[in-house]
Amino acid sequence: MDLSAVEKEILEADLSTEEGRAAFQRRFLQKGGVLDSFFSALRSLPPEERKARGQTLNALREQARQRWEAAKKAHLPTPSTPHKPQDPTFPALRIVVGGRHPLSLIEGRIIRFFQRLGYRLASGPEIEDDWHNFSALNFEPDHPARDMQDTFFLDLAAGLLLRTHTSTVQVRVMERQKPPIRILAPGRVYRNETVSARAHVYFHQIEGLCVEENLQASDLKATLTCFVENFFGPGTPMRWRASYFPFTEMSAEVDIACLICQGAGCAVCKHTGWVEVLGCGMVDPAVFEACGLDPHRYTGFAFGLGVERLAQLLYGIPDLRLFGQNDLRFLQSFQGYGYAL
Ligand code: DAH
Repeated sequence: MDLSAVEKEILEADLSTEEGRAAFQRRFLQKGGVLDSFFSALRSLPPEERKARGQTLNALREQARQRWEAAKKAHLPTPSTPHKPQDPTFPALRIVVGGRHPLSLIEGRIIRFFQRLGYRLASGPEIEDDWHNFSALNFEPDHPARDMQDTFFLDLAAGLLLRTHTSTVQVRVMERQKPPIRILAPGRVYRNETVSARAHVYFHQIEGLCVEENLQASDLKATLTCFVENFFGPGTPMRWRASYFPFTEMSAEVDIACLICQGAGCAVCKHTGWVEVLGCGMVDPAVFEACGLDPHRYTGFAFGLGVERLAQLLYGIPDLRLFGQNDLRFLQSFQGYGYAL
């Protein structure tokens, strides 16, 4: 066997198993092995060759030793981690996930109810013009709601303002769509009010509009009674009050028995035992006319719900401002409702 064959074997021997490493050790690193016999043979060489041959053999032995050491290290048994018994009573880590905002929960619930009655979603811009917010809805030019006190005007000359109600979407829909119409328009509205526990400069409404031939006030009453019972529970005491809105004729407001004090009287119901939950009425013929629909052919009813008001009553929330503050202690208390509410 010549030295180059020995070197090849040193470089290529399989050291991945324990037996392989033991055989390698015997063959190249111990007495009686191949390399050892080459060393013994040195003595029979002429002295002038002995030195060079000895150096080559030493280098080979060193090479073998290094490979063997490295292989031994690489295959050290991994120390096994001591087995810790599991404690099933140990408290689990709390997984924190986000939740939906209470106003979104309420809005979603109202939308799902009306979708089952065939209403489709509609929307309009928050920056509106005088026509869609007031004129087409039959507000007189000197109606107090147009007053600077109530309305945020953006550009008086151009008649641009922040919409004060979602009734604007009624006009936008009727201007471009022929009846039958059943739409629901959720959205944010703005009013120039002093912020307090009961009032805010912005809040959310949901507008409903149904236009067909031969609709009557009883259709309106049936729809909204069904909604209120579905939302607040069957048998919730309701009261219909005659009211006035420029865009409806007849107009009404619906009160329910105050859920916070069960009708006994509290700050939320101003000690009357009743709280207003919505405004509604039969669409005024003047509105049909403004939107280009024949008032002799079509009839309709409309309603407007205040989302904060409904959420306040349902959850017993004392202060409107909580909805906009993003205080996690408040928001997290609605997490359990998930998407299912
Ligand atoms: N737009 C009214 C408001 O903001 C609410 C309202 C009342 C809407 C009667 C309607 C309605 O559609 O018929 O106070």
